[in-house]
This record gives sequence, structure tokens and C-alpha cells, in this order.
Amino acid sequence: MRALLATCLFLVACGDTTIVDPMERQPRGRPYAANAFFEDGRAMRQPPAGTVPRERTVGNPALAEGKVNGKDVEEIPIAVTADLVHKGQKRFDIYCATCHGRVGDGRSLVAANMSLRPPPNLHERRGMAVGHYFQVVSNGYGLMPGYSAQLDVEERWAVVAYLRVLQLSQNAPLALAPAQERDRLQKEPKR
Ligand code: HEC
Repeated sequence: MRALLATCLFLVACGDTTIVDPMERQPRGRPYAANAFFEDGRAMRQPPAGTVPRERTVGNPALAEGKVNGKDVEEIPIAVTADLVHKGQKRFDIYCATCHGRVGDGRSLVAANMSLRPPPNLHERRGMAVGHYFQVVSNGYGLMPGYSAQLDVEERWAVVAYLRVLQLSQNAPLALAPAQERDRLQKEPKR
């Protein structure tokens, strides 16, 4: 009995899925296929005039794409406030630190186990136009996936702002430290 049951389950699992899923059987128009129902004989319909494609940039290209006329923007096009940077830190720790490490130095569990091209140390990529970072976060870069599905435009700029903060934190000139800290830092042994 048990063997029979197992055989039945096996057959259901491997069999024709259209038996159990009527949606796979329902009549539908396949892309580029002929279809006699419509006057022009095509299954694919022309979108109504004025339809806006989902991927079209509407409004401000500096904000939405990080570039204007093919040139990367050099300044973050929204107000950089402490709140924005904190938001960027939260998103960076969730979405970027897994690969690039929490300080962005490319040290992470994922990096240690990635053989093809490990996530780079982001401090070695400092000084690039902010628009370039925005595009990397939005569209991905080489092996890195894009994050526009997870992060909206403001969140992506927040991540870029925090990336700049991180980069400065690891490469700040001594002159930027408050006077009373400078002495202490100079005496500290170099790591
Ligand atoms: C799944 C791992 C992974 C995650 C998560 C990830 N990256 Fe990357 N990142 C990579 C890899 C791998 C590369 C190098 C890609 C290549 O050279 O093909 C890269 C490259 C970069 C670069 C260098 C681009 C250049 O021009 O050299 C930047 C900047 C960057 N990532 C930022 C980010 C930020 C910000 C996030 C979070 C939104 C993030 N990454 C999330 C794996 C990741």
C-alpha cells in the first residue's frame, strides 16, 4: 500500500503540471504569436497613446539617474542631513555590508568565500563621482546586482552619502580632527 502511495505521489510530482494547474491550460496570447481575434492578426497589443514605460525617467535625471546628458553628477542632488546619513548607514548595513563589510573595506564572510571576483574595498574606490556610486547601487556593476528594487531613489542617495562618510572616516587627514584629539592621535602607534 505504502509503495503504491509513493508511486502515485511520484507520478503526480513529475507528471503534467497542467492537470493540477488550470492557469497553465487557459487560452492566452503568446508574445509575437499570430492571433485571429484581433484585426491586425497579432496577439501583442499596441499600448494606448501616452502610455509611460515603467523604466522611463520622468522628471529630474540628476536625481533619478545620477547623470545628466551622459555625465555623472558630482554633487548629491538632495539635502545631505544627519538624518539622511543615518538612514544611509542603516541601509548600507543591511544591503551592502554583507559583501563589502561594515566599514566598507571588503572584509566579509561573503567576500572570503567568493572566488571569482570578491567585493572590493570601497576605500580604494574613493574619489569617484557620487553619480557613479548612485548608478552602481541602482543598476549594479559587473558581478554586483543592482538594488533599485529594494531601495527607493532617496534611500539610494542616502547610501551614497553614507559611503562618502565611510570613505572619509578611513582616510581623514589629521587636520580634520579637533585640536585636542590631534595630539593624542599623533602619539598613538600606527596600526
Ligand atoms: C552580493 C555582494 C555585494 C553586495 C550585497 C554589494 N556589492 Fe558592491 N560590489 C560587489 C562586487 C563583487 C563588486 C565588483 C564587481 C565587479 O568588478 O565585477 C562590487 C563593486 C562595488 C563598487 C565599485 C564600483 C566601481 O566603479 O569600481 C561600489 C562603489 C559598490 N560595489 C558599492 C556597493 C553598495 C553601496 C552596496 C549596497 C547598496 C553594494 N555595493 C552591495 C558585490 C556586492
